[in-house]
Amino acid sequence: MDKFVIEGGTPLNGTVSVSRAKNAALPIMAAALLAEGKTVIRRAPHLADVRAMAELLEVLGARVQRAENDDLEIEVLDESHSVGPYDVLRKMRAGFCVLGPLLARRKQARVSVPGGCIIGFRPIDLHIKGLRALGAEVRTRAGYVAAEAPKLKGTRVFLGGPFGSTVLGTANVMMAATLAEGTTLIESAACEPEVTNLAHALIAMGAQIKGAGTPWLEITGVKKLTAATIDLIPDRIEAGTLLAAAVATSGTVTVNDMRPDHLSAVTDKLQQMGADLEITEHACTIHAQGRPHASTLVTHPYPGFPTDLQAQFTTLLTLADGTSVVTEKIYPDRFMHVSELQRMAADVRKEGPNAIIVGVDQLSGAPVMASDLRASAALVIAGLAAEGQTHVKRVYHIDRGYEHIVEKLQALGAHIQRLPDDEPIPPEP
Ligand code: EPU
Repeated sequence: MDKFVIEGGTPLNGTVSVSRAKNAALPIMAAALLAEGKTVIRRAPHLADVRAMAELLEVLGARVQRAENDDLEIEVLDESHSVGPYDVLRKMRAGFCVLGPLLARRKQARVSVPGGCIIGFRPIDLHIKGLRALGAEVRTRAGYVAAEAPKLKGTRVFLGGPFGSTVLGTANVMMAATLAEGTTLIESAACEPEVTNLAHALIAMGAQIKGAGTPWLEITGVKKLTAATIDLIPDRIEAGTLLAAAVATSGTVTVNDMRPDHLSAVTDKLQQMGADLEITEHACTIHAQGRPHASTLVTHPYPGFPTDLQAQFTTLLTLADGTSVVTEKIYPDRFMHVSELQRMAADVRKEGPNAIIVGVDQLSGAPVMASDLRASAALVIAGLAAEGQTHVKRVYHIDRGYEHIVEKLQALGAHIQRLPDDEPIPPEP
C-alpha cells in the first residue's frame, strides 16, 4: 500500500491540465455493450475505476484494449455471458450501469447489488423502478439483481428520489430505452454534464434522444446502435479540486483544458470566498491571497454545488476567516474527512448533515487516513496547506479518480511524494 508524504506550506503556482472525466468514461464504457462494432473512447483516463470497468466488460464478452495512440477500444465479441460479478461491483458501484445495456441487448442479465459504500446510503431502487417501467421483470436474489424482458417497451417514468435525481440511474434507464420499442420519457432525469456526455455518445451510436442536459429526456427506441468514436468531457471535479488546492495554499494557478461552464456553482463560491478568477472558454486562472472568507455551502444536483467537491471545500473552509456551515444534501453522511481534518488541528464538527467549521489560521501536518476518493483529495489539500509534514495513507482511493495527481501537483511546485507505506496501521485506542 502506498502513502503520500506532503511537506506543506508552499503556494501552488503554474499551469495544469485536467484529465477527462472518470464519471463520464464509466457509463460510456458500459454503453459500448449496446453497439455493434468497435467503440473508441478518446483520452479515457488511466484510473483504477476505468480498469475495473474494463475488467467487467471483459467478463461480459468484450475485448477492451488501449490503442497505440492511447484511445480505449471496446468491442463486444461474445454476448452469451450476462452476469456482472460481485467481485467487481464491490470495488466500483458504476459497474451497476451495465444492467440497462445488457437487458436491452441480451434480454436478460444478472448484476451484483453494489457493495456498501463509505460515503453513506446508496440505494438502487430508482434504477429498478425505471427498468420495471420499461417492462422488465426485476428481482433481487442472493445479492444479485436479475432482470429479464423479451422486449422493452417505451414508457413514461419519473426518476426523482428523496435526494433529487439519480446520475447512474438515469444512465441505466436511458441506455435500456435506446433499444426499446416506442418512446420513453424520463422525468426528473439527472442533468449532470456526464449524463449529457453519455446521451451524446449514444446519439453518435445512432440513438434518438432529445432533451439531453434537461430533466426531461425523450428517447425513441431504434433497432440497433453502431459503435462510434467518443470524446469525453474534462473532469470538472478534478478541476474544482485543483482550484481549491490553489486557494488553500494562497497560490496562483491556471487550470487548462477544462469546462468552466460545468463548474459555475464552484467558481461562484470561490469568488464569494475572496479568490480572484479569470475565466475563459476552456481555462480558469485563480489567484488567492490570505485566508478565504467564511461561507455557507450546500450540495445539490447539477447545476448546484457538487457533492464530489464537498470534502475539498470543507478543507478550504477550515482555513477561512470566520465560521462556515457546509450542508450535504446528497449524501448526508459523507463526512469521513472531518475526523481526519480534526487531527490536523481543524476546528470542525459534524451535526447531522452539516459540518460547522470555525476557521483556523494554520493546519498542522499529521498522519491521516484516506477513507474514500474525495476525502483523500480533501486530505491532500489539507496537507499542501498545513505547516509541517502530512502522511496520507491508503491512497489507493485517490488512484480511483485522479490521473497523475502527484505529477500534476509537483509540476505546480508542491512537495508531495508517493512512497510505499510499510508502517503497520496503529491499533484502535
Ligand atoms: N438515490 C436513490 N435511489 C437510487 C439511486 C440514488 O435514492 O436508486 C439517491 C442516492 O442515495 C443519493 C442521490 O440519489 O442521495 C444521488 O445519487 P446518484 O444515483 O445520483 O449517485 P450515483 O449515480 O450512484 C454518481 C457519481 C458519484 C456522485 C453522485 C452524485 C459516478 C460513477 N458516480 O453516483 O461520484 O457523487 O453521482 O453526483 O458517476 C465520486 O466520483 O466520488 C462519486 C461518488
